[in-house]
Amino acid sequence: MIERCQEDTRPRFGPRARTAVVLAAAALLAATSAAFLPGTASAGTTLGASAAEKGRYFGTAVAANKLSDSAYTTILNREFNSVTPENEMKIDATEPQQGRFSYGAADQIVSHARSRGMSVRGHTLAWHSQQPGWMQSMSGSALRQAMLNHVTQVATHFRGQVVAWDVVNEAFADGSSGARRDSNLQRTGNDWIEAAFRAADAADPNAKLCYNDYNTDNWTHAKTQAVYNMVRDFKSRGVPIDCVGFQSHFNNDSPYNSNYRTTLSSFAALGVDVQVTELDIQGAPANTYRSVVEDCLAVARCNGVTVWGIRDSDSWRASQTPLLFNNSGQKKAAYDAVLAALNTGTTPTDPPTNPPTTPPTNPPGGSCTATLQDGTRWGDRFNSTVTVSGASNWTVVVAVTPPQKISSTWNGSPTWDSSGNVMTMRSNGSGNAFGFTTMANGNWNRPVVQSCTAS
Ligand code: G3I
Repeated sequence: MIERCQEDTRPRFGPRARTAVVLAAAALLAATSAAFLPGTASAGTTLGASAAEKGRYFGTAVAANKLSDSAYTTILNREFNSVTPENEMKIDATEPQQGRFSYGAADQIVSHARSRGMSVRGHTLAWHSQQPGWMQSMSGSALRQAMLNHVTQVATHFRGQVVAWDVVNEAFADGSSGARRDSNLQRTGNDWIEAAFRAADAADPNAKLCYNDYNTDNWTHAKTQAVYNMVRDFKSRGVPIDCVGFQSHFNNDSPYNSNYRTTLSSFAALGVDVQVTELDIQGAPANTYRSVVEDCLAVARCNGVTVWGIRDSDSWRASQTPLLFNNSGQKKAAYDAVLAALNTGTTPTDPPTNPPTTPPTNPPGGSCTATLQDGTRWGDRFNSTVTVSGASNWTVVVAVTPPQKISSTWNGSPTWDSSGNVMTMRSNGSGNAFGFTTMANGNWNRPVVQSCTAS
């Protein structure tokens, strides 16, 4: 039931939701969520439940043709609270002929997941690989238009069902160049990536929109820095990007490095969420799995971890035995390490992406002081109380950090700016303090009091 709560809240409080928060509905949702707080029987004993206790998800890649394998679904349903279709949402699967869309296998996975309270990551809308033949032979403006239409159609089909999309996958070259990967999509113009993000944003304003890549885990690598620079540029220009996926396929040629946490936190500091999207590790060393999970938990904006398959035999690299369950579906040592890491956790250390709470400034003509205090914290949200002194009629402006969303308030009359992230609270005769609940959506920054005005 805890996963059901997650699934219901994420789309509603999506990062770029254009509509204002409907307070009554949100308050009802918050009240409903309270019934599903951590503490269920399975908490601490499965990957998904333990991750949820930390406000995260733990997911796996799923293949539709394995959903009839009861050994497979037993583990899937017991352990995971997020799924990523391994191949079924790729371009060749969803638009095998131009303009003819095929969603059967993807719908099957989405239905399986959502009916069991698991969230779904969409993978992937625009990619140089696994293009159907008709797209492979296209170029120029016709390809650009076909790509944008694909993004629009697929994101629209799954609107409200997918919490995060890998909008663009693997667009940068390996090696030391830091350049974009050459591909038919890249040759349509360097702005193809942002064009894809804008199309996805228009089609599904509530899904988190991610850039996803591999060999971007090591902070010192040119490819990592190139993606970082792109994301920083996108954020500065308002391109609608919400998250970065780190595939994290670790092996002897591309090993885990202890600067992984620096990578995650550095991207998070740009104001995006980060997600471990395709984790597998050659030989499944328990210590490395533990480190990856600890690194994610140490970064407040790391939303969750997805492993790229359930049993070793399900892996695209089966011979490397890189997953958490062996071919018989038994838990490996890496599983125990991951579960222990999830149950222990660490305190998030992200640098704040907005200024820390500072003493409020009182504009000329006003004279009041508003002080914010932390309240109760749950797995997915937290309360704050603001106490006002120096005025009985007051107006206080509070901002939260996207993708946070204020879901309910008390003892005041709120209004909102167009983003939904800045709340202007006016006294309503209830006294000199008001409170509110913030859905963290993976970000645990303190809300900031921007001003207090006596009126
Ligand atoms: O389903 C057909 C089967 O009918 C046919 O007999 C067989 C013969 O080759 O092919 C089967 O399809 C294969 C498919 O996996 C399902 O098993 C494709 O050939 C094969 O190319 C495909 O590989 C997938 C690969 O992406 C393609 O690029 C892997 O399953 C999938 O795990 C892998 O996932 C990627 C991510 O999307 C992006 N990041 C890297 C990751 C690993 O390569």
